[in-house]
Amino acid sequence: MTTVSVTGDNGYDVQVASGASLRVGEYLGGAAQALLIHQPVMAGRAAEIRELLAGTVNVLLAEIPDGEDAKRVEVAAFCWGILGQSDFTRSDAVVGLGGGAATDLAGFVAATWLRGVRFITIPTTVLGAVDASVGGKTGINTAEGKNLVGSFHAPHAVLVDTDILAELPETEARAGFAEIAKAGFIADPVILDLIEKDITEALDPTTEVGLEVLRRAIQVKATVVSQDFTEQGVREILNYGHTLGHAIEHAERYRWRHGAAISIGMVFAAELSRMTRGLSDAAVDRHRHILGELLGLPVSYPGGRWESLLATMRRDKKARGAALRFVLLDDLARPTVTAVADESLLFAAYSEIAG
Ligand code: GLY
Repeated sequence: MTTVSVTGDNGYDVQVASGASLRVGEYLGGAAQALLIHQPVMAGRAAEIRELLAGTVNVLLAEIPDGEDAKRVEVAAFCWGILGQSDFTRSDAVVGLGGGAATDLAGFVAATWLRGVRFITIPTTVLGAVDASVGGKTGINTAEGKNLVGSFHAPHAVLVDTDILAELPETEARAGFAEIAKAGFIADPVILDLIEKDITEALDPTTEVGLEVLRRAIQVKATVVSQDFTEQGVREILNYGHTLGHAIEHAERYRWRHGAAISIGMVFAAELSRMTRGLSDAAVDRHRHILGELLGLPVSYPGGRWESLLATMRRDKKARGAALRFVLLDDLARPTVTAVADESLLFAAYSEIAG
């Protein structure tokens, strides 16, 4: 069992281990009831957990839709309905079992029921394990945009089960690795070394190297959210590659994997860092090598789309006044949040990634 701790007022442990999901009973704090919110693909694991806890905890199951379809107010209402009908109290617990969208929704249900009940998250994707599940961001989407309704609600524990991650389709795991590479670029270049040394091992969470890469990426996230739970400052660095990445996701009508969009966004941010912050050519090349060649993620985007991407970025929540704000790098592991007012610089960086 590998443990990474989030510290501060909202502290908790992230446990990374084979079979971690089956130990959820240890983290329920004596709850009499638990609502286990899960994606359809996790129905078998959910039933197994219910069976394991039978006799000690009454586990209610709520199967929710896959992906972003889970993050609708109707789905939250479906879960609230189950809680209301089962006399769920403040000493009971909500467990989220699934990818980032499922745990965002489950966390939102936990945050809002009786103004907040105990929440355990069991991420079943790489992206969920190293990003969405750690840090207490919960929320749902509205017709006006993603994550506009939500709350910071820290989990009591995050259980990363490497047996589940090992079963992921390879394309899914590779896309999740975009967030792992991000942790390497912004804070821990040892992650980059390990990916470059043996990509096959790094991608396999059952190997020592795979576990180490996961642990290090979770540590980066844990360190940042321990310092800045509610995103007043340093937490913003986690958005490296996300300003353009979100605009690409929007342009692709959210059919692209998040990791693919932020892969392009990180190469763009690296190019912009080279032009404005003196990031070395070698560091920029390393982005393309790791993301493109080793992980097989896209690192370029069609040239003709710039104007509409720019318009979307302007609506990004980080825009302040006229200038767009980006997370840039002075060097590897030296991030800075910078306003870039000069559109010709943005266009020049985009030209470097236009395919
Ligand atoms: N995914 C970025 C954050 O948790 O702040």
